[in-house]
Amino acid sequence: MRYIGGKALLLGHIIDTIKRETENVESVIDIFSGSGAVGNALKANGYRVWSNDFLYFSYVLARGTIGVCREPAFKHFDFDVIDYLNDISLENTAYPLEKCFIYNHYSPNENCGRMYFQNKNAVKIDLIRMQIEDWNTAGLLSEDEYYYLLAALINAAPYVANIAGVFGAYLKFWDKRTYNTLHLERPRIVETEKEMLCTNADYTQILGERYDLLYADPPYNSREYLPNYHILETIARYDDPELYGVTGMRDYKDQKSVFCKKNAVYHAFETLIRDCKSRYLLISYNNEGMIGTDELSELCRKYAAGDSFRLIEIDYRRYQNKIPNRKAGLKEQLYFLRRNEWDT
Ligand SMILES: C[S@@+](CC[C@H](N)C(=O)[O-])C[C@H]1O[C@@H](n2cnc3c(N)ncnc32)[C@H](O)[C@@H]1O
Repeated sequence: MRYIGGKALLLGHIIDTIKRETENVESVIDIFSGSGAVGNALKANGYRVWSNDFLYFSYVLARGTIGVCREPAFKHFDFDVIDYLNDISLENTAYPLEKCFIYNHYSPNENCGRMYFQNKNAVKIDLIRMQIEDWNTAGLLSEDEYYYLLAALINAAPYVANIAGVFGAYLKFWDKRTYNTLHLERPRIVETEKEMLCTNADYTQILGERYDLLYADPPYNSREYLPNYHILETIARYDDPELYGVTGMRDYKDQKSVFCKKNAVYHAFETLIRDCKSRYLLISYNNEGMIGTDELSELCRKYAAGDSFRLIEIDYRRYQNKIPNRKAGLKEQLYFLRRNEWDT
């Protein structure tokens, strides 16, 4: 999925840095997992991964991919579940249109002017979401299978949404892609014997865990994540929220990030670095973030064991043709340090 601040194009640098700078690292916490791109790459590279994010749809993406260690068998079904969901329609189910939350609130009809989805795709999202929930309630899905199917749905929705990348606003004219029919792809599962863990918590609740390395990719500017992905959160939760304003925003007072607030970001980083109980810490950031390079380097040095702190800056010019609207001078950064605690 295209994700603000997503590291899909930096995976090689992140894995190389871990291999180059550390010894005996087998387990990694990805504490701000977002799209799950880093956690999935770590799993594919043989690490035991703990993936965490305070957004529920992000948790669903991680739990349905990283958290699944065997290709799901769907043993209670004698048909292909993904094919069935791809063919679902109002005619072949008993779900009434009144129960279709996405259709009623995010596609144009007599009660709604919002143009996030064409009617057929909005209804299809609802039918798939309700069917997954009903199968789960009836005990027909394992936990892995439930999240695997939800992850497939969350991944599919943006491909037919009438947006310019994020759900903060919808376009006023129908984009070409919205005429396509929503299609679930099978999530790619890396099979492993290692135990993966996925949580949906604030980062402060995870810092005390002792993994070999903690990877932290926090927000780097004042743009909150929930408003930009509010519809994915609602599809994931399907909790009938009260909606506000032109875009039909759900309430997110409990999902605001301290990393997005100028007057809180220093303290947020100090908490991250000071309270990290993992042996190594690797932070992704950039040189135009809410906190400056010198200030963040100083914090890292303050808590680093010996002279272990390294700042690695990645010249993005080589990737510029892959990243539209990339600002000249913007540098991706990796702050690496060994933490004190394990030395004492
Ligand atoms: C830059 S994105 C991570 C991108 C991810 N590495 C990827 O490649 O997709 C930052 C993430 O931090 C999460 N986040 C922000 N504040 C948080 C907090 N206090 N606790 C947990 N997660 C938080 C956001 O929901 C967002 O998904």
